[in-house]
Amino acid sequence: MTTTIAKGLEGVLFTETKLTFINGTEGVLTHLGIPIQEWAEKSTFEELSFALLHGKLPTREELAAFDADLKANRAVPAELITAIRAYPRDVHPMQALRTAASHLGLLDADAEDTSAEGRYRIGVRMIAQFSTIIAAIARAQDGQDPVEPRADLTHAGNFLYMLNGQEPSAEQARLFDIALILHADHGMNASTFTAIATASTLSDMYSSVVSAIGALKGPLHGGANEAVMDMLDEIGTVDAAVPFITQKLDNKEKIMGVGHRVYKYFDPRSRVLRDYAAHVSEKQGKSHYYSILETIEKEIVERLGGKGIYPNVDFYSGVVYSDLGIKKSFFTPIFALARISGWVASVTEYTANNRLLRPDAVYVGARDQHYVEIDERK
Ligand code: ACO
Repeated sequence: MTTTIAKGLEGVLFTETKLTFINGTEGVLTHLGIPIQEWAEKSTFEELSFALLHGKLPTREELAAFDADLKANRAVPAELITAIRAYPRDVHPMQALRTAASHLGLLDADAEDTSAEGRYRIGVRMIAQFSTIIAAIARAQDGQDPVEPRADLTHAGNFLYMLNGQEPSAEQARLFDIALILHADHGMNASTFTAIATASTLSDMYSSVVSAIGALKGPLHGGANEAVMDMLDEIGTVDAAVPFITQKLDNKEKIMGVGHRVYKYFDPRSRVLRDYAAHVSEKQGKSHYYSILETIEKEIVERLGGKGIYPNVDFYSGVVYSDLGIKKSFFTPIFALARISGWVASVTEYTANNRLLRPDAVYVGARDQHYVEIDERK
């Protein structure tokens, strides 16, 4: 009998979803059948979050009620803010976010409510509270006081306000809103799958989100956006870009921000972000970061396009975030700020028809052995 192992679970189908469709060979991404470009152009993070959670576009009244719900839930318990301020300042913010998300559960008397209503209530509240938590971590790490949320700003605008301590321009708030839309959901990516795996044991929503944060943190997933900026700093100048790529490829090392398990063509999100990265760079008189990325993209497409390696969503996001006053170490928390909507929506969808996730492995270890007493071992 032959056994085939799906390494990295590649191509394994374990559930049905109505949320997100991806055609990796043609570079297509849709949520509820609507192309990501239309969401980015016409929608808001609040509206997309509603759509993912409810499986439909909201009416004007439904959107207003959902928006009010998010705004009403922005505050976090004072104990949590005190704890965040006591975290060591030099830890990676994803460690702080993972701890804070778990701490939030400790402070919620209904944390163990795994009914559909309970998961929804906690999920929506966490979507709202993530902005306050991440901004508070950023400010605490800089030795600054946290800024209270404001209910007259959008989710994106309020986050930038709490982060930088000053109200963003309408253009900045909208640019950040678009970045959140582009990152909100992406099918069965590693962190969403992790969130679902935890929920499938009928564990609580906080545990799902904490598991997902851990998965998102790694450099092969959400951590890649930060790694792209490290790479740009290492390259330094446009002239050094091609030699750097050549050396990396000769050493069989990965280039950050390119390649994807599903996309074997341009990630459509990277196209939208490239346009905005070009816009902000133009505004600053063509930043050298953008010029280096353009050079790398051309080189990668020429040399690796045949293998299906193209820029992914993380390739240009850093240039956009930097323009919004977001520090490199906060790029991955920003990813979590958006992706929490996808985690919550996917957990909600999966647990409505739950089955414990429990894959198997092919056993290739020793057989027919006996226990050897410790003194007799070599
Ligand atoms: N740079 C150079 N070569 C690459 C890259 C890359 N970034 N990615 C894949 N390749 C090559 C591999 O070396 C391999 O070549 P080979 O067939 O000659 O051995 C081939 O392309 C297939 O690559 P795999 O690693 O098998 O593809 P996989 O689906 O496992 O990888 C992954 C996907 C992990 C994202 C990979 O492309 C990668 O490490 N990219 C860099 C990190 C990154 O940007 N991650 C963010 C992904 S998007 C997100 O999570 C939001």
